[in-house]
Order: sequence, then structure tokens, then C-alpha cells
Amino acid sequence: MAEGKETMLREVLRPKKVADLVGQDDARSLVEGWLRSGDVPRTILITCKFSAGKTTIALLLGRALLCHKPIDPVTPCGKCGSCLAFDEDDHVDFQEMNAADKRGVDDMRQLAANARIMPMDPHSKRRIVLLDEVHMLTPQAWQSLLKPLEKPPRHLIYIMATTEGRKVPDTIRSRCSVLPLQPMSVQSCVKLLRRALKGTKLEDQINKEQLALIAKTVECAPRSALNALEQVIALMSNASRGGKAVDAAMVNAFVKQAADVPADATAAAVCRFILQAQPGPALRAYNDNRTEADYIVKTMSAIMRQAMYICINPTLADGYYSDKIDKVPTLAKRPLREVHKICQLLNDLRFKAATHMMPVDDAMDVLIVEACLLMAPAAKAAAESKEVNAKK
Ligand SMILES: Nc1ncnc2c1ncn2[C@@H]1O[C@H](COP(=O)(O)OP(=O)(O)O)[C@@H](O)[C@H]1O
Ligand SMILES: [Mg+2]
Ligand SMILES: [Zn+2]
Repeated sequence: MAEGKETMLREVLRPKKVADLVGQDDARSLVEGWLRSGDVPRTILITCKFSAGKTTIALLLGRALLCHKPIDPVTPCGKCGSCLAFDEDDHVDFQEMNAADKRGVDDMRQLAANARIMPMDPHSKRRIVLLDEVHMLTPQAWQSLLKPLEKPPRHLIYIMATTEGRKVPDTIRSRCSVLPLQPMSVQSCVKLLRRALKGTKLEDQINKEQLALIAKTVECAPRSALNALEQVIALMSNASRGGKAVDAAMVNAFVKQAADVPADATAAAVCRFILQAQPGPALRAYNDNRTEADYIVKTMSAIMRQAMYICINPTLADGYYSDKIDKVPTLAKRPLREVHKICQLLNDLRFKAATHMMPVDDAMDVLIVEACLLMAPAAKAAAESKEVNAKK
């Protein structure tokens, strides 16, 4: 990849054939088997935790099936009109729909009506419809999908994708071939990042440990890992343009900065405002990034547990998460009971979210305000003692 084209690494690097996939061996052999036998299921459900290549796999299938002159059944040529249309993200016979926007019964009826449309490219034998984020569909929408999924027309392949496979009704699941993607290993994620760096001037300046640090802090989610790497590359390019020699220590600092994903920073800010009993700023910080609610709750829980340890004895705190709240003045008052209670509230919410009793997003603001109220007496006492000390 040439320098100056660093932006959108994840798009530049999106695998174009099955052989380009990093890891995902099971999914890969399943997809290869379908393509080689010519027997691709007409309803496929791709599931995985966060971004781990769902869209990538759907596009790989599309590329292989719609290529005009494939090298073999799993390898598209990369040059024909169909392959070029995929490169432009604009293939007439690959339709993408997001159930976050179109989630109702009328949308599904429209989808079923469109199913009869024949492929538009004269070379295409198939049309592919990718329905992403299907966990957002309403119960009636699922219901209305039962029939269309039972017997799609021969030319049509429905691919559904979701990060929350458990929310797919059994009646739907049983009509699909399920393709469960595994979370990436650190090793695979590092391999992906290495590939992204290949051929750049920076290839030799970032080492394996630094790439592993990026991988681990983003829990090996490929999209976040590539975004973090993109940030590091930008920081390094800026530094060298500014005439600075980029040494190992500097790269380390950049990696740490980029790996501190925004959601981590949000979680830390919300915790700090809670400990200072400031509901307004705490809610603002949360609302700025509430699409990451699940991750934020998990991280807040880790940070608050560290606050609890600090209250008991600061030497019990363990680096990464405790550093994020270490210097909160109200903690000097050691409100252990309140901090403990907040940890419990967070644990309860995580449990409710995991068992789908309640969406995290809706419950978070209530929790934040409750936590601030709990902290209010301790924060007031800390402020008063500060005033007294100042007067002395
Ligand atoms: N197994 C993989 N091998 C190589 N690259 C991958 C893999 N999984 C994901 N990626 C990269 O991560 C990016 C995000 O993946 P994507 O398919 O959009 O995830 P999802 O649809 O699950 O959110 C892709 O553009 C691609 O560059
Ligand atoms: Mg996707
Ligand atoms: Zn082609």
C-alpha cells in the first residue's frame, strides 16, 4: 500500500477471495465447500460477536458467485465487470439492507416482493440480498419472513448477518444454514495488521509486541484493530513530517494512544464524573458514545472494581484500569460502601443485558444518575474538607 493512501485501511484490505481471509478456518472451509460443490444454500445466517468479518464473508460469496470468468469456483478473476463493480461497492445483483433502518413488516413484504426480480447483469445467474443486523427486526417482521425464507426463488440467496445470534427466532434459524464466525485470535489479528503494514515505509518500525498490544486492547476486533493501526500510521507520518526521528519509545506511545479506543475513554470519563457526583457531565460523556453502550458498561465495571480496590487499599489496584480514575479527589474520602454499591448496579445491568432482560442502552442513563446520587454525600464532604484545608 502506497503512503498517502493510508486512509480506510479496512476497505483497502477487505479480502477479495476466500484465500485472503485471515483465520476463520471453519467458516472458510464451509464456504469453499459450498462454492466447489455448486450447492450454495439459499438462506444463510452469519453470526459472530462484534465486527469479525460478516460483511466480508457475504461479499466473498457474492464475488465468487457473480464473477464472469472465475479462475476456479472459489476464486474470482478480479478483472471482469462484476469484480470491478464489487470493487466500486456497486453491484446490481448484490443488494444490501440494514435491519437497523428497515426493520418492520412492510419492509420485509417489500423484500419478498423484490425477490422475484431476476438478476440484472446478463452474466449473473444469481441475486444476493444481504440483510445486516437482523437482530433489530420486529417480531412481526420475523413472522413475515418465514414464508419467503422457506422457499426463495432459485436465483436468490438471502444472507442474514447479526452480532446477536441468540435473538434470531428458532423458526428462522431452522430455515437457514448457519455460519458462525469465531472471534479472531491475537495471532490472527497481528497477522492482519502485519499485512496492512506490508510494503509501507513503516513496516520495520512497528514490532510484533506493539501490534499485539493493539490487538489485545481492541479484543481482536479486526475493524477496530485496523482503525487503531491507521491512527498510529497517521501519528508516525505526522511526526516524521515534522522532522522528528521516530524511535521505538515514540511508536510505543502512539500505539498506546491509538489503542485507547474512544469507548475506553468514554467509560473512564463517565466513572470519573460519577465519582465526583456530576450527573450532567456524566450523561453528556455517555450520550456522546452511547452506541457503544455494551462495551462501556463492561469497561466501567472493570474501572469501578479498581476504584473499590483503591478504596480498600491503593496498593491492591492493578495498573491499566485503575490508572484511569486514580486521581479523582472524592476517592480520598474512601466511600467504599457507595463504590461497592455502584459495582453491584453495574454487575446487575450486565447480567440483565446478557440475559436480554433489558437493553443496556435504555438502562444506562438511569444507572448513571443513581450512581451520582449515591456518590453525592461523599463528594460534598470531600469538597467541604478541601475548603477547610484551603482556609487553614
Ligand atoms: N478474517 C478476516 N481476514 C481478513 N480481514 C478481515 C477478516 N475479518 C475482518 N477483516 C477486516 O475487517 C474489516 C471489518 O470486517 P467486516 O466484514 O466489515 O465486519 P462485520 O461486517 O462483521 O462488522 C474488513 O473490511 C476487513 O478488512
Ligand atoms: Mg458488517
Ligand atoms: Zn471476475
